[in-house]
Amino acid sequence: MSRVVVTGGSGRLGRNLVTGLAAFGHEVVSLDRAPSEDLRIDGVEQISIDLLDAAATAETLVRAKADSLVHLAAIAVPFSAPEDVIMRTNTGLAVSVLGGAVDAGIERIVAASSPTVLGYGNPSGWLPDSLPLDEESTPRPWNAYALSKLMIEQTVSMLHRRTGDDVRYATFRPCYVIAPEEWAGAPTQQGHTVAERLADPALSAPALFNYVDARDVASFTDLLLGALPDIPNAEVFFVGADDALADAPLADLLPRFVPGTGDLASGLTGTAPAFSNAKAARVLGWHPQHSWRTELTAPSSTLDRKDVPV
Ligand SMILES: NC(=O)c1ccc[n+]([C@@H]2O[C@H](COP(=O)([O-])OP(=O)(O)OC[C@H]3O[C@@H](n4cnc5c(N)ncnc54)[C@H](O)[C@@H]3O)[C@@H](O)[C@H]2O)c1
Repeated sequence: MSRVVVTGGSGRLGRNLVTGLAAFGHEVVSLDRAPSEDLRIDGVEQISIDLLDAAATAETLVRAKADSLVHLAAIAVPFSAPEDVIMRTNTGLAVSVLGGAVDAGIERIVAASSPTVLGYGNPSGWLPDSLPLDEESTPRPWNAYALSKLMIEQTVSMLHRRTGDDVRYATFRPCYVIAPEEWAGAPTQQGHTVAERLADPALSAPALFNYVDARDVASFTDLLLGALPDIPNAEVFFVGADDALADAPLADLLPRFVPGTGDLASGLTGTAPAFSNAKAARVLGWHPQHSWRTELTAPSSTLDRKDVPV
């Protein structure tokens, strides 16, 4: 148990992370531009702030008297703003928040990156070194969002070099986050429902069929914060479900949507995802508890599309 600052706590992932960490017994201070009604709960304090204001952020982080910080605040969707704005915002936030956290004496610092750092979806083509993708896969960002996320990982590395192991760090790359209400038909981040993503593989293919339940990100973060003093410092973790968001094997689906992956994907049989979560399991003992197969009202194999809430 600790006192944790979460930046971007009013956001899609943030709301679930804040409520999840509070349920695990942490005191949480949520920093965002505006408060969220969902976070008016015991154990959560909300502070409205523009985190691009480095001086105000530094002062707020000192006053928060926290031992841990999880940095989520960002422009979270590629191409949702001009490229220079995404770059400036996300890297500016990283320096202001993560640097401010170090200066405030916060001892455990975690930042959200993204699987998109690897560079899939590049209209000029992309091929992985191997599949499944893991933390050793080579990042090849092709847009400002992915590059800004790689810069956030590099900001953590920079601060680690500066502080040494007096401060403990990690970055995590959450797969496509699905919040509990989205299983019941609320739109996901890209606007369509989970059922629509399953019914039309072209919708899930740009993310290589990856996903993770927001509650599993909360359990991952709780384990990570507890383990930080005892695991190697400044590590990167993928945080994804045990299976793919698809009702056919990726060995069949991936070559249809990512030309040239036929041989590489041949091992992705059954329900295997394109992103390995083995490192989080090995280092932290984390295992996701939620799968679309159990969270959706009907299992895919017997799915009557008309019965699925949309
Ligand atoms: N949702 C996903 O599927 C996903 C996948 C991979 C990585 N991520 C990363 O996780 C993090 C959270 O994503 P999300 O989906 O919850 O995004 P979101 O857009 O729902 O939430 C981001 C939050 O950050 C806040 N914020 C942005 N700029 C701010 C500023 N200057 N000052 C104060 N607050 C500010 C916003 O108000 C918002 O509440 C992001 O860093 C994103 O890149 C998300």
